[in-house]
Amino acid sequence: MTQLSPRLKQATPVVVDHGEGVYLFDTAGRRFLDFTAGIGVTSTGHCHPRVVEAAQAQVAKLIHGQYTTVMHQPLLALTERLGEVLPAGIDTLFFANSGSEAVEASIRLARMATGRPNIIVFSGGFHGRTVAAASLTTSGTKVRAGFAPLMAGVSVAPFPHAYHYGWDEDTATKFALRELDFLLATQSAPDDTAAFLVEPVLGEGGYVPASTAFLAGLRERADRYGIQLILDEVQTGFGRTGRFWGHDHFDSRADILVMAKGIASGFPLSAIAAPAALMEKAWPGSQGGTYGGNAVACAAAVATLDVIQSEGLVENSAVQGQRLVAGLRATAADHKEIGDVRGLGLMLACEFTTADGSPDTATATRVHAAAAANGLLLLTCGPFGNVVRMIPPLIVTPAQIDEALALWTTSLT
Ligand SMILES: Cc1ncc(COP(=O)(O)O)c(C=O)c1O
Repeated sequence: MTQLSPRLKQATPVVVDHGEGVYLFDTAGRRFLDFTAGIGVTSTGHCHPRVVEAAQAQVAKLIHGQYTTVMHQPLLALTERLGEVLPAGIDTLFFANSGSEAVEASIRLARMATGRPNIIVFSGGFHGRTVAAASLTTSGTKVRAGFAPLMAGVSVAPFPHAYHYGWDEDTATKFALRELDFLLATQSAPDDTAAFLVEPVLGEGGYVPASTAFLAGLRERADRYGIQLILDEVQTGFGRTGRFWGHDHFDSRADILVMAKGIASGFPLSAIAAPAALMEKAWPGSQGGTYGGNAVACAAAVATLDVIQSEGLVENSAVQGQRLVAGLRATAADHKEIGDVRGLGLMLACEFTTADGSPDTATATRVHAAAAANGLLLLTCGPFGNVVRMIPPLIVTPAQIDEALALWTTSLT
């Protein structure tokens, strides 16, 4: 009998039959409030009617129009539409399928454009599971252990994780930038450094927002040394944080922007975006792939952008995020095992710690399982698995936020 790999870890015991909006229904007909959104993917909710309609129409017209053989309309339409949301000056796109693939494309471009070998990443960052992406990932050893040698040319600098260090944001930021300068002086000379690669909010690493001064410090050093600043917005993009891009919170500017997840409501699609003059520096033949820019995924992405804009989902993410974080903070005040509540928009998390400040993985695991049993699906993250995160679809209503908060409070006791 064939079976799934036992290493495909299941966060919940749910076998899902169908999804509708913020809800998932299991094969026995039980309804769950889905605050995982397929790890921050189904931002328009499960099976949004406009996304379904666009995908169904496209399936009947053209499923696969391989994009280095022929060009197709959904890809051209999506390229044009993304121009409405891309930061000024970033006007050229390359499409792939997964976040990992796009991250790899971004570092390939940075290396080719600069002729330099090294990439500097930031502690706690998650950039994917393929060998190069795993080499750039430091959110937990499970992603990178056991299959060395990893890709060479990667150095790790601290991320300003104030709660982890037990400092305020300013102290953590100054420390991170000082250590980055030390790294540039001791390990990866600026002339050998192609790129800084960073998430505006650490995702798998524990839902930790960067700071304005930190990203400004990276920008300043990138400009000073001709290093490319790659912002990995795979999880933070498309309204997740209450602004269209996560880095909008920090007034930052990318050289290369990496996106996936929320772009197509669940269809596999990712992209990198860069100014044309930079993208042109990729070597001929270095960008391509059999499935990249799939026609159905692109049609779904155009519909996703329509929904985000017409239903005001970026604003809703900000407003409902405020409601959720206020509720989480109020609950945390009565639960000393919750050491920190943090995040932006609808990318929020609670970190569980013991009385002496150590990671409390056992309680996080128990509460996460209790929430699922109570009908609220959540995920954990962080290097110790002691951070429980909430990433509902951006269509979530105040009533659903309140329902989730009630289930959360019940699950804590
Ligand atoms: C910030 C970030 N980058 C890259 C990836 C990798 O994306 P994928 O799993 O689609 O390869 C993820 C996935 O969680 C992510 O959160």
